[in-house]
Amino acid sequence: MTHHQTAPLSTQVTIMGAGPAGLMLSHLLAQAGIESIVLEIRSHQQIAETVRAGILEHETVNLLVDSGVSDRVLREGDRHDGIELRYNGESHRIDFQTLVGESVWLYPQTDVFLDLAARREADGGDVRYSVSETEVDDVLGRPRVRFTDASGQRFEITSDFLVGADGSRSQCRRLVPEAERTQYFHEYPFAWFGILAEAPRSSDELIYANSEHGFALISQRTETVQRMYFQCDPTEDASTWSDEQIWEQFRLRVNGNGFAVKEGPVIEKMVLPFRSFVQAPMRYGNMFLAGDSAHTVPPTGAKGLNLAVQDVKVLFEALDAHYSSGTSALLDGYSERALDRVWKAQHFSYWMTSMLHQLPGASEFERARQLGELNSVVSSRHGSAYLAEAYTGWPARG
Ligand code: PHB
Repeated sequence: MTHHQTAPLSTQVTIMGAGPAGLMLSHLLAQAGIESIVLEIRSHQQIAETVRAGILEHETVNLLVDSGVSDRVLREGDRHDGIELRYNGESHRIDFQTLVGESVWLYPQTDVFLDLAARREADGGDVRYSVSETEVDDVLGRPRVRFTDASGQRFEITSDFLVGADGSRSQCRRLVPEAERTQYFHEYPFAWFGILAEAPRSSDELIYANSEHGFALISQRTETVQRMYFQCDPTEDASTWSDEQIWEQFRLRVNGNGFAVKEGPVIEKMVLPFRSFVQAPMRYGNMFLAGDSAHTVPPTGAKGLNLAVQDVKVLFEALDAHYSSGTSALLDGYSERALDRVWKAQHFSYWMTSMLHQLPGASEFERARQLGELNSVVSSRHGSAYLAEAYTGWPARG
């Protein structure tokens, strides 16, 4: 490109990241008459092809439908009224409807992204994919973001606020000086081996299995494609595994007592990173963090996307109050309000993970204690109800 001039742009809110968090925020702002520009370093196609988790809390579904993003989730998603916890060769159903009167929806994150991207496009939203060389200044004043768009043109956006919805490798998160933030980490000595397989469904509901050979999860995608995971070593190289070796792991971990996982050609395999992370506070000056940029959870509780959407809902209400009545109280309270739910989800994800996985080198005591824990959950209405409430999503705090 020959032109080196930087073209000036201005908007009310600049949003870094066009994942579900960034697009949902841009959509909600547009509905309230607040302008935004969304910048994304990946292409639309790259995001659409990334395989992510697939469980939506009822509140996430409500927000997609009620805010007019799409009702495709209701037509093409599957409502799940419970899950199965499987251990010692037996399945125990956790009935969400009976316990807390709620359900979740199986609807892959890819479809959430496609629905949001299509809605933003139909509404004329300013979403720029494949941008590069992003530089951010002045987040304590009027944030400025310089970037190069897909055609090579350089721009500079000035805005009232900057939102870092730029994922687990967030650039925005790093703008907060060390003295102004705390980072909380927890590493786990295992990871998940995830596959997509061409096979019919093995079960109507998701099966979370604890076995002496390690954890396994039987999830689903469509009538003909299934999503499954098993606990593996974090350094595992998925490409070296044959289909037969993969199915052997599932047979060992979930088959028995009349149940057998339905097998078929493995069409995708990958090792998923596994850690817990929080950066607090989720605000620095006029920059707000939302979603994975501020926190990641292990996938066991299926909370990642739902937390991101909840951050955005809270942040939208705060920005809307600021623009409609000039009050900053909700913006000032954003971080605390968002983190309240983040830490509940951190605990739940950690708890589900520790209850269901085998720790390398665990003692006999630890193994027996874990079975006692599972028995406490499945044999008690109160124990099960905590799982059901957390899995389907805590009610929004007033
Ligand atoms: C998935 O279907 O990808 C999935 C479902 C539940 C989880 C994690 C992943 O806890």
